[in-house]
Amino acid sequence: MVIVRFLSCALSCLFVLPGIGAAQTAAVAAPADNHQALAIFPAPQQVEPHSGKLDLTAGIAMVQPTGDAGAGEVARMLRQWAPDHFLFASKAPQAAARLQFRRVPGMAPESYRLDISPGGARITASDDAGLRYGGVSFWQLVTASPGRVIPAQSISDGPAFRWRGAMLDSARHFQSPQYIRSFIDWMAANKLNRFHWHLVDDQGWRIEIRAFPKLTEVGAGRRPATAPGAPPLPEYRGFYSQAELRDIVAYAADRGIEVIPEIDVPGHALSAIRAYPEWGTGVAIPPGTEAHWGVFPWLYNSDETTLAALETILGEVIAIFPARYVHIGGDEAVKDQWQASPAAQARIRQLGLKDETALQGWFMGRLARYLEARGRTAIGWDEILEGDAPQSVTIMSWRGVGGAIEAAKKGHDAILSPAPQLYLNHVQALNRGDPPGRGEVISLASVLAFEPHPAELSAAEREHILGVQANIWTEHIRIEERASFLAYPRLSALAQVGWTGHGSKDYTGFLRRLMPQLDRLHALGLQPSASAWTPAIAVEPAATGGGAKITLSVQGGLPMQYSLSGAPPLPYSAPFTVPGSAEVKAWATLDGGRLGSGATRRIMPGALQRRDSRALKTCHAKVDLALEDDFPASGPRATFLIDILDPCWIYQGAMLDGVTRIDMAVGQIPFNFQVGKDRDTIKFRRPKTPAGEFEVRLDDCDGPVIATLPLAPAARNPGVTRLTAPIVPTKGRHDLCLTYTAAGPDPLWAIDEVNLLPQEQK
Ligand code: ACM
Repeated sequence: MVIVRFLSCALSCLFVLPGIGAAQTAAVAAPADNHQALAIFPAPQQVEPHSGKLDLTAGIAMVQPTGDAGAGEVARMLRQWAPDHFLFASKAPQAAARLQFRRVPGMAPESYRLDISPGGARITASDDAGLRYGGVSFWQLVTASPGRVIPAQSISDGPAFRWRGAMLDSARHFQSPQYIRSFIDWMAANKLNRFHWHLVDDQGWRIEIRAFPKLTEVGAGRRPATAPGAPPLPEYRGFYSQAELRDIVAYAADRGIEVIPEIDVPGHALSAIRAYPEWGTGVAIPPGTEAHWGVFPWLYNSDETTLAALETILGEVIAIFPARYVHIGGDEAVKDQWQASPAAQARIRQLGLKDETALQGWFMGRLARYLEARGRTAIGWDEILEGDAPQSVTIMSWRGVGGAIEAAKKGHDAILSPAPQLYLNHVQALNRGDPPGRGEVISLASVLAFEPHPAELSAAEREHILGVQANIWTEHIRIEERASFLAYPRLSALAQVGWTGHGSKDYTGFLRRLMPQLDRLHALGLQPSASAWTPAIAVEPAATGGGAKITLSVQGGLPMQYSLSGAPPLPYSAPFTVPGSAEVKAWATLDGGRLGSGATRRIMPGALQRRDSRALKTCHAKVDLALEDDFPASGPRATFLIDILDPCWIYQGAMLDGVTRIDMAVGQIPFNFQVGKDRDTIKFRRPKTPAGEFEVRLDDCDGPVIATLPLAPAARNPGVTRLTAPIVPTKGRHDLCLTYTAAGPDPLWAIDEVNLLPQEQK
């Protein structure tokens, strides 16, 4: 591992930099121009200002040493990213500034030195990656200089971790090759270097395998689930041909990104077993296609012919993907089918193994050795440690960081990608309008603060920690733009952790550096989320004098400003009251400047207690999901926050003085979750009418019912239905528990919005 000491006092402290370029010790001060000081992303190790400036107004001519293909690729990438600035030397006017690439031996892997003087710029590195990161840093400086003038400076920089990864799940939902190329560009612009591509799972097989065409004929399509009685949704289909995959691998290589394919075994295998039932244990497969999420019991069998088929698949995989690493999964393989299978039991006896866990160990070991014999290294999720995985296997720790700790102590290399901290399929805020995802919030600040050095490891054991990775699972990410929204800006925070080698609590400092970076990514087609700095505007009836009490909140404690119905902005320091109708606009600020477009909420006297499901609390937060409605097939759909194991919500602090009615907008969604025996724990009160009813209870979920809303009108509507009912007159402020009665969990009923009304609405 490249060990470099990084100090986050970015602008004015002393650095000691073993092994980075020529500079060993240097005094550091901020370059004069603050934009420039914050231009490099992730935060660089060392910036040394010089006097003078480099003038780029005539463009930048890139001069690549003859025969240096790596420098040529960097030049091409910069030209694509900023064609107005970066010109190949042969086409550049005489007056253009020169960018030179220089190779020297002996610099640390992936590190670079970037020297900018009035006479030109020079990137020095030993390897292609170093040249590339020097090029990315230069592009970052150029795009942070609207006047096209860069202060002279020298930057010495390199990453702390050699694994700075992102995993994208293209199995649950498929993304187009064009989108994948954009995703790779955004990674490269953040100096991330490993694209872990989850290509197969129970719900989809997305890689063409020529020896087994049914994998994609059968496994690449599915009909999405719908609630009972709802109209069917169109078939969903997609896979990558080998030619497309080769193209993407080459595109990624040109941007310094290694693509690591994942073929998940022995579980997450249903799409393959549907195509080739002889690879399963003989347990009957439900007809149709797989539209459920969760953990399935289907495992590959461990027969010789199935293992030979998997080796054939891996053979085709390694012919497409030249990366040293191939991920072979190993996660969430429940052993029920092997326990019940006479063939699996006979295999255990034949191999002299203790049990099914040992059989998985043997299974994974066999495939790992197949890869090893071909010069590759297997990666497995941390479960494979349970089965005595060969020491050559690299462990990807996802069930917290314990797997990485155990792995490193046993001599395995390991990568930190713990859930939920680095699982970017979690929502990043509970803002109305944000896309679906897992319901527990993983904030930008929490990703930035992730500490990648488990204290339990000795210095020698830490050498086994290759780095960090964030994972984007796509069960609930149907649309490509939503994958971008969930990935960014949190993936930039992960990039910062991986580059600097530590988490940071300097959120504001990070945002200063992030904002220009997001502008650049935007120019590369990214639409990142602004949720981390978009205030939530909470509204409730004022305690006295009528009107509305407005409370603003935002992640990271950023300062906020607001404006009422277009009046001049005011700084926000505490909740304030609004006497009648008004439009509240609120935004966070950074160094006095406005961050993003902020949030807007219209205050109307009859709707002071209207709350979106994301402003409610689930009662027990067992498995909270922000789930999308299954209707309509095209156009906008509602998103509901719901605990799928306990659909029950708390409306906290309802002011019931004068409230006469409750309005609820509710939707029905399919219970398409494989949750094993947990399904039996989902309990409902018995319905009083055939379709059931929502019940509103006072104070807690055992309190008296103060309103009942029959679901019959909603049961006939596949979309969102508004229900309304009188509420028992009640005084004062109370929590309300909102649940429904039902015969079972399918469909799930979900709340879109609740409104407590002071009088009957005409
Ligand atoms: C995983 O999240 N099942 C690796």
